[in-house]
Amino acid sequence: MKKLTARLTETVSAAFEKCGYDPALGSVSVSDRLDLCQFQCNGALSGAKIYHKAPIIIAKEVAEALSGASEFSKIEAVPPGFINLTLSDGFLLSVINETARDENLGVPQCEKPETVVIDYGGPNVAKPLHIGHLRSAIIGEALKRTARATGRKVIGDVHFGDWGTPYGLTIAEYKVRHPDWACFKEDFDPEKDVIPDIDEAEMNEIYPFASAKSKEDPDFKIASRQTVVDLQNRRPGVYDLWKKIKDVSVESVRKIYSNLSVDFDCWYGESDSDQYTGELLKILTEKGLLHESDGAQVVDVSQEGDKIDVPPIIIKKSDGSSIYATFDLATIIQREHDFKPDQIWYLTDKRQNLHFVQVFRCAKKAGLVPETTELRHLGFGAMTGPDGKPFKTRDGGVMQLSTLINTVEEAALEKLKDSEYITGDRREAAHKIGMAALKFGDMQNQPLKDYVFDLDKFLSFDGKTGTYLLYTVTRINSILKKADVGFDEVLCAVGFFGKSDRDLALALALCGESFEKALADLAPSALCESAYGVATEFSKFYRDNRILSEGDPEKRASWLALCLLTRRLLVKLLDCLGIETVENM
Ligand code: ARG
Repeated sequence: MKKLTARLTETVSAAFEKCGYDPALGSVSVSDRLDLCQFQCNGALSGAKIYHKAPIIIAKEVAEALSGASEFSKIEAVPPGFINLTLSDGFLLSVINETARDENLGVPQCEKPETVVIDYGGPNVAKPLHIGHLRSAIIGEALKRTARATGRKVIGDVHFGDWGTPYGLTIAEYKVRHPDWACFKEDFDPEKDVIPDIDEAEMNEIYPFASAKSKEDPDFKIASRQTVVDLQNRRPGVYDLWKKIKDVSVESVRKIYSNLSVDFDCWYGESDSDQYTGELLKILTEKGLLHESDGAQVVDVSQEGDKIDVPPIIIKKSDGSSIYATFDLATIIQREHDFKPDQIWYLTDKRQNLHFVQVFRCAKKAGLVPETTELRHLGFGAMTGPDGKPFKTRDGGVMQLSTLINTVEEAALEKLKDSEYITGDRREAAHKIGMAALKFGDMQNQPLKDYVFDLDKFLSFDGKTGTYLLYTVTRINSILKKADVGFDEVLCAVGFFGKSDRDLALALALCGESFEKALADLAPSALCESAYGVATEFSKFYRDNRILSEGDPEKRASWLALCLLTRRLLVKLLDCLGIETVENM
């Protein structure tokens, strides 16, 4: 099904053309003043400059040409030259009934099938996930689901950090602590020798310790650098220990992602791109892009007109080891090889922006992907405490993601303590409600902005919260159950009977718009807006009408059809946001 504004644009464009104007002027958008009209077209204002005519004259001509169009009940040309449009009941009704019957529930499908790789999550081996990893995981998951809902082929890749400096440090420190482990013997034999099991608590503590130590202890620093080189050369023992550490990390990270309902199609890491490093170097050398700088191999990526300094990108350090940028470039070759993506999206903290500018420029210069492939970095702001500073634990440390999840879940459980409506497992319900509160509290913001973590607000039943949205769904569940309507049925409405059912129908008809907007801006906040818009209109509709006791069968059936479509669309929007609903609460 086409987007509603796209359909209206077709009609209005035809009217512009009929009057002898460029049809491209007929673009229709949702009005910013819903109290005045529902849609508007500002094409007459731009047309005035081209045709040297007063905009209001053009607007009036087009409005005249539109009169009789079945889509509209009101068409007005308003000074200085706006065309204000209000939908007819018949048309709005046909749109929502078509939405109800559409297998994609009105979500516009992308015209040519596109492949998108989304690089999100970005955990690191031997480091526990902390709250800084939350946004990449949940925003990435939401964009993946949203892009899939529009018919795109999407591959989510976790891109584990597992092949750089930190692992040299970590393994070097293991050697200091456990010099007797078989993996550190010169004649280590992977077939016969056994490496002891990795203790997760020690693993989590070892990297920060080793990182601090390397700043004070030059010998240790040298040893750890050599260890990275050994690791990247897959030296027996070092490589085998690394594999064990990685297994433990992956296992622990998987659990937390699954708790957040975040899932990946590929669990690749930096180390998986290693097989393409040779090809990368070959291409860069052949194209004459690589040169030496202080012993390192670099590529210049600055461009004329740069407002900030864009330094050369380092491909190989002087000791021959690969670094973060090398892995990202080699991974681009890998993705081009495996998926030929039309787009690759990267989700990280916005502080990594310069890194991605360097990587993207180098990739394009070297022709690692076709010129048309879109490489996009979505850098986002931080979750902060009430003081606006990055969120910290009571003792000033960085909170682990698993602790954050538990805190939110406990708070939700406490909040539901007296609810008599929860029938099933309370902890399960608290988990879903807590995650809805947390995710919606995060994603309703523009990704680029910092936002304040305010659990009381997130868990409130009123206002723009995930809790309010789940609550709205449970209210509809209860109506539908009492009316004996199945959640998967398809019902159609036959008319509107007041302002609030018409307003709700318009909010439902506009849901499809938010999917493209979310993808164009890489911002799930568009879906949050849409879901919240539907829920508030539903609340008014619910307040104004006695649905179940309504005596007029046409009214009752139409209202139930609206309830059902509201539920289906809310569930779909929430699902695309990675939010699960509950039966009752
Ligand atoms: N592991 C990285 C970090 O912790 C994030 C990885 C993001 N993805 C990428 N392709 N660079 O900062």
